[in-house]
Amino acid sequence: MKKGTVFIKNAAELVTCSGFGPKFGKAMEELHIIPNGAVYIEDGIIQIVGTTEEVERKLPQSPEQVIDAAGKAVLPGFIDSHTHFVFGGYRAEEFSWRLRGDSYMEIMERGGGIINSVRATKEASREELFKAGKKRLDSMLSFGVTTAEGKSGYGLDYETEIKQLEVMDEIDRVHPIDVVKTFLGAHAVPKEYKGREDEFIDFIIEKVLPEIVERNLAEFCDIFCEKNVFSVEQSRRLLSKAKEMGMKLKLHADEIVQLGGAELAAELGAVSADHLLQASDQGIAAMAEKGVIATLLPNTAFSLREHYARARYMIDHHCAVALATDLNPGSCFSESIPLTFALATLYMGMSPEEAVTALTINAAAAVDRADTIGSIDAGKKGDIVILEFPSYKYIPYHVGVNTVEKVVKNGRLVFD
Ligand code: NIG
Ligand code: FE
Repeated sequence: MKKGTVFIKNAAELVTCSGFGPKFGKAMEELHIIPNGAVYIEDGIIQIVGTTEEVERKLPQSPEQVIDAAGKAVLPGFIDSHTHFVFGGYRAEEFSWRLRGDSYMEIMERGGGIINSVRATKEASREELFKAGKKRLDSMLSFGVTTAEGKSGYGLDYETEIKQLEVMDEIDRVHPIDVVKTFLGAHAVPKEYKGREDEFIDFIIEKVLPEIVERNLAEFCDIFCEKNVFSVEQSRRLLSKAKEMGMKLKLHADEIVQLGGAELAAELGAVSADHLLQASDQGIAAMAEKGVIATLLPNTAFSLREHYARARYMIDHHCAVALATDLNPGSCFSESIPLTFALATLYMGMSPEEAVTALTINAAAAVDRADTIGSIDAGKKGDIVILEFPSYKYIPYHVGVNTVEKVVKNGRLVFD
């Protein structure tokens, strides 16, 4: 009996989401479902996929662990490709102000918002950040998330940005969820640089970025490209430099105001552009042409009472759409995948099939990992979600409630 062998059998439906790259347009509807499906995993890697009968016939030995998924749907682990899960403090007070009518940007402009979390993150010890961040990942795991992206951006200085990324590394080492790290040093303009945004970008480029790259502290570089935060020109300058230094790119683009962030993402060959509530038709066309993943964050639009991104239009215009939670202490304090599913299907015109694709293989592409995760294919990581119900259709149907019963990560049962 070889170590680390798992056999999941009798699945009412095995939703494989099969593929090794993002799905565009109509292809987002195809889930590749195997009724009475099974999957065999060895040493963390998927080896055999098929009907229970087929896989049983091909089993090389008797597996160490057998999971009977009779009456349950089995899916690839979800990938939350946009989060800010390491931060200090909370902003519940600001949420109440927003409920009374203040806007997110108004609060930011009078010195609250992101800057508020920057102060708390600077004050927090590594241990406090580690403990809180790890707990947030526990909650995400219970929703079926097996890979999560996490951003810095609550330091806006050399020390705290690096502290956040190092803490993410530490959490990654002890937690079943794989963490993909993004450097978001240009998340807001720190007080001492108000009116001198270009100098702040110079500081990031000259003082922080080289250290991040040299120590391989982050794989992606991101920026909040927004009116009254960083302009398209400033974003182009920072991201071009990061790209030159070998980093992959993401953008917080066209969230509140249509600035041309989607166009910039296409111009720079970013892996993804995120939010996109205000993205223009031309920006969407450019992203589709260049294969930039459109990562939509409905939990944030919901929390900010903004209208939703144009998912239907994007898919119909051949964009690869991913969904993520955007968990953060300000605009969206929610890691709820059930909420993401509910909003995407009820309010953004996405079908349940498209939403599943958007949280699996397309989300894998949004973190540049479509070759190793995001589908149940031989050769990929054994990251699997088992639902309490017989079909993925129950995820949006059981509105806002968690339908995940078990999670297998790298072939190990980590949530039950
Ligand atoms: O993705 N839009 C900018 N950044 C985050 C919010 C961060 C915060 O409010 O703390 C976002 O929504
Ligand atoms: Fe964000």
